[in-house]
Amino acid sequence: MEILGIDIGFGFTKATNGENSLIFKSVLGDATDIQFSDSALADSGEEEHLQVEIDGNSYFVGELAERQSSERYFTLDQTQFVDRFIKNLALTAAARLVKSHIPINLVTGLPIGYYREHKEELAKILVGEHKVVITSANGDSEEKTININRARIIPQPWGSLFNLMLNDVGEMKDKRLVKEKIGVIDVGFRTSDYSISDKMRYSERGSRTTESGIARAFNVIATKLREKSGVNVELYRLYDAVDEGYIKIRGEKFDLKSLTKQVFSQLATSVANEVDRLWVDDWDIDTVIVSGGGGSVLAEYLQPLLKGNVTPVDKSSDARMNNVTGYWKFGKHVWAKGVMPSLKD
Ligand SMILES: Nc1ncnc2c1ncn2[C@@H]1O[C@H](COP(=O)(O)OP(=O)(O)OP(=O)(O)O)[C@@H](O)[C@H]1O
Ligand SMILES: [Mg+2]
Repeated sequence: MEILGIDIGFGFTKATNGENSLIFKSVLGDATDIQFSDSALADSGEEEHLQVEIDGNSYFVGELAERQSSERYFTLDQTQFVDRFIKNLALTAAARLVKSHIPINLVTGLPIGYYREHKEELAKILVGEHKVVITSANGDSEEKTININRARIIPQPWGSLFNLMLNDVGEMKDKRLVKEKIGVIDVGFRTSDYSISDKMRYSERGSRTTESGIARAFNVIATKLREKSGVNVELYRLYDAVDEGYIKIRGEKFDLKSLTKQVFSQLATSVANEVDRLWVDDWDIDTVIVSGGGGSVLAEYLQPLLKGNVTPVDKSSDARMNNVTGYWKFGKHVWAKGVMPSLKD
């Protein structure tokens, strides 16, 4: 039995089996014949060739779809995401990390706001045997049977909490967190998820999903770029540009630094205001945790606006992986020992 954590986000799909992990953009595209494989032209070591066939459809996935597919599929709609994306993204990740036929116990999550609505459906989609054909960059294909034995679905930001609370064998490493009232802020690509764990009990009142994700800031940037260049830049093509501070469109360089500063500080203000409103009666929170890839890029704007005892974002690790690492540790905790933690959901 293998324990696998998969965090299927609107921006990135993240997965880990404790030994190896994987991260790719949550973009699908049609698989086309590539005449010259990428690797023949350049040593694109860090970018993976993710090509899969699931239920009779062939896809390029992630960066490969972004670069090579003529039709690309990407959504920020939750229902569409569950119906058309989640299974393909999860099986792509599983096929890369797990051997054929090995029973998998899977931990994954949903945004707080969709947790009850989609929890059963998501488990139903994932549990069972799935045939996946994976094709490598040199054209070799292999069929794998992905055998998902059990799927445990938890609210997404709880992954970040378990990541801090549990060690690599799934044991409590920080008992303080179990006794405290913790507020988690998980800023992702589309959503911001807020949740409170009060001595490990889920607080309905303090938990919510809003649309204050990084995509909102990226939308403003994309609109400005369209006005200036006439080109509609897809949101998932802005990560590197925003990080580097400029983008080149048809040879022309557009500076993004001051606009990014402006939109990120606006977004951070919205997040801080949402926190103030949502947790108005929870003034007894002991610790606030900021997480998610968006939490990391917003940290410098957001942390000064938050009240209370805020645990600073750990810049030494990739904050996009916090939830999935926590999912995996939670799986270890539940299944490796047969002890159920007291997560009430
Ligand atoms: N190295 C990086 N490459 C790309 N994006 C990064 C990187 N580091 C941080 N980010 C930020 O991480 C964000 C995505 O974070 P994350 O993976 O947590 O979101 P998600 O889980 O896909 O979205 P959601 O929770 O809304 O479904 C991006 O919007 C980007 O701003
Ligand atoms: Mg997320």
